[in-house]
Amino acid sequence: MAELSTVGDVGVVRVKYPPVNALGFPVRKGIWDCIQRASRNSSIRCIVLCGDGRTFPAGADISEFGTNKAGMGPSLVDVIHAIEATDKPVVAAIHGTALGGGLELALGCHYRIIRKDGRVGFPEVTLGILPGGTGTQRLPRVTGIADALEIITSGKPLSARAALAKGIVDQVVEGDIVKQGIAFAKSVAGKPVAPRRISQMKVNAPANVRQIFDEMRAKLIKSSRGAIAPLTCLQSVEAAVTSPTYAQGLRKESELMMMLMTSGQARAQQYAFFAERAVTKWEVPSRGVGFKTAKPLAIKSAAVIGAGTMGAGIAMSLLSAGIPTFMIERNDEFLQRGVDTVKSFLGYYVVKGRMGAPQAKKLQALLKPTLSYGDLKDVDIVIEAVFENMKIKQEVFGKLDAVCKPSAILASNTSGLDIDQMASATKRPENVIGMHFFAPAHIMRLVENIYGKKTSAVAMATVMDLTKKMGKVGVLVGNCSGFVGNRMLGAYATEASFLLEEGCLPHEVDQALRDFGLPMGMFQMSDLSGLDIGYKGRTERGLIDTDGSKPARYRNGQRYSPLADMLVEKGRLGQKTGKGFYNYGKPGGRMPQRDPEVEQLILDFSEKHGIKRRQIYAEEIIERCLYPLINEGFRILQEEIARTMEEIDITWLYGYGWPRHTGGPMFYAKQVGLQRVYERILHYQKQFPYSTHWYPADLLQKMASQPAHKL
Ligand code: CAA
Repeated sequence: MAELSTVGDVGVVRVKYPPVNALGFPVRKGIWDCIQRASRNSSIRCIVLCGDGRTFPAGADISEFGTNKAGMGPSLVDVIHAIEATDKPVVAAIHGTALGGGLELALGCHYRIIRKDGRVGFPEVTLGILPGGTGTQRLPRVTGIADALEIITSGKPLSARAALAKGIVDQVVEGDIVKQGIAFAKSVAGKPVAPRRISQMKVNAPANVRQIFDEMRAKLIKSSRGAIAPLTCLQSVEAAVTSPTYAQGLRKESELMMMLMTSGQARAQQYAFFAERAVTKWEVPSRGVGFKTAKPLAIKSAAVIGAGTMGAGIAMSLLSAGIPTFMIERNDEFLQRGVDTVKSFLGYYVVKGRMGAPQAKKLQALLKPTLSYGDLKDVDIVIEAVFENMKIKQEVFGKLDAVCKPSAILASNTSGLDIDQMASATKRPENVIGMHFFAPAHIMRLVENIYGKKTSAVAMATVMDLTKKMGKVGVLVGNCSGFVGNRMLGAYATEASFLLEEGCLPHEVDQALRDFGLPMGMFQMSDLSGLDIGYKGRTERGLIDTDGSKPARYRNGQRYSPLADMLVEKGRLGQKTGKGFYNYGKPGGRMPQRDPEVEQLILDFSEKHGIKRRQIYAEEIIERCLYPLINEGFRILQEEIARTMEEIDITWLYGYGWPRHTGGPMFYAKQVGLQRVYERILHYQKQFPYSTHWYPADLLQKMASQPAHKL
């Protein structure tokens, strides 16, 4: 999987293992053999190491992890040391992405050049591991401690220019990378390699080195939400400073890597890596269509209906993909507000250095604000982001159907309404589809794409392709109330509220959920979204006690908690009114504070209804909140709303910030053990027979009785 050729007195070792030249066993062996042969060949004076096709090796072969092949020699560390030991200069010629083991391989070479559009980095932390192929020992020797810590613990890749500035590469080049590599190699042929061996370099520890580690440790404890890899990465870099020799530091790196590799977290994060790729290979078996056969339409122009925060975020996402986008509103004032919101997003990107001012100007010019539906006659896709009300949505779809060209796709950014009902307001139900963005839409990466009964394969392929072009992760699912994400959320929110009645206060439930790794607890999240949204939905379903005739704790034969309704009726709608389950100080405030008024309301409620409050521990909070959600996930699979567990897990990882180190709710359930999850659900079902979310899904029951699934 690697080939040695010669150009004059330069040996060129070319890795050939598409698609990304991952450093699996055959590649390691191939490079090793080529380096040995090049070293022995007296007509070769210097060596270029490069990748064939689209990239320099993009890292270790993740699919090998946990298999016998991972242990098959030579190891990556052996290969790196063999390269470094060569007394002929070896030049890594990088194009594409030199990530993880790929960058470690490059750091084993004596010189590194990179093409202008190339990137380098250590993404291992996102896979639950550390750069265990000498990376945590080599990078600090090259960049210094602070930069190495930042690069390794963040996992974020660096541009070619940034890599040059940090001393990771020696030169940034343009044009053919192999030709450039050969030219560079000739310029260093004959020079002594000893001073270029990174393993022989000293780690320059500045006087405040302790402080650098302490500050980073404190930052990681806050941000890692229970993931162990970030802090272990730090420990490994620390070993580069504290170990007397490179070899001793390396032993520590290897020990820590072994500990991470065998942790459940690494397995979960590696599962998430492949899950993200698996969901792009969508299929709807019941219709016999899928990504392999359906061809997407080219989207050359788009429109967004509604210029609120959501509409502006969607418009921003389309603009980022370089798509000219109309934004439509009812009046000038609302429209101007939308234009200003997009401007502020672009301004923020420029300030943060994520985009140059000329690029921002170019994107702003692609935005076409209008008050007229007539302007949409030639667009290829329209995404409506109007009020979440079926009647209003149907009116919008009717209008769009009348003005848009027949091939135009009409998409709804609904968070749970029936796509078929919207489609029925048009004469083109095959072109109607859901595109559920998550707020803030220009930042959150998930788009839940929902096909209706008549949605065509072309429409499905088009929105999945468009989602990717916007830099987002698309999951294609079937149509049902709440779709995948919000349907599962429903069961979770309901049970969280019951915990308040029985003994918890909002901050206790939220703390347990944050400790589990979720970015915020259920009540913080409800306050952020607005308590009036759920209230409106419950009103439409006839659940609200408008005339005092409904029982407080049971509605429609189900256990019911009216606590959120009581808050809404007091004008506490969440962050936007400054008060909800928490007090935020002022409307729009963001810092939740416990509110004695809410806590008293909860205590009074329990007392009034004779509920004996008790201490509820974190373990029960987690089970009661998350197991109904997981159970609903199994129902969703059973009904084929989602085709795979990966689709559900990716929805939660990217739409709701589910902790990646647990893989997603379905993977988490498998790690806990489906038999155990099933038994706990039965246990709660006995206690709470008036909650259908405690009735185990048939599929869960079936899978729980099978031998444990391989994770
Ligand atoms: N191992 C195994 N397979 C890999 C892989 C890897 N490191 N990187 C990518 N692939 C596979 C993908 O699963 C995908 O396969 P399918 O087509 O079958 O789905 C295929 O290669 C193409 O990948 P993408 O769809 O992601 O292609 P892209 O062009 O969008 O992105 C990329 C390319 C930036 C390299 C991206 O694939 C990526 O980020 N890969 C992972 C890089 C990484 O994490 N490297 C570190 C590995 S861990 C390590 O190296 C540890 C160590 O030190 C010992």
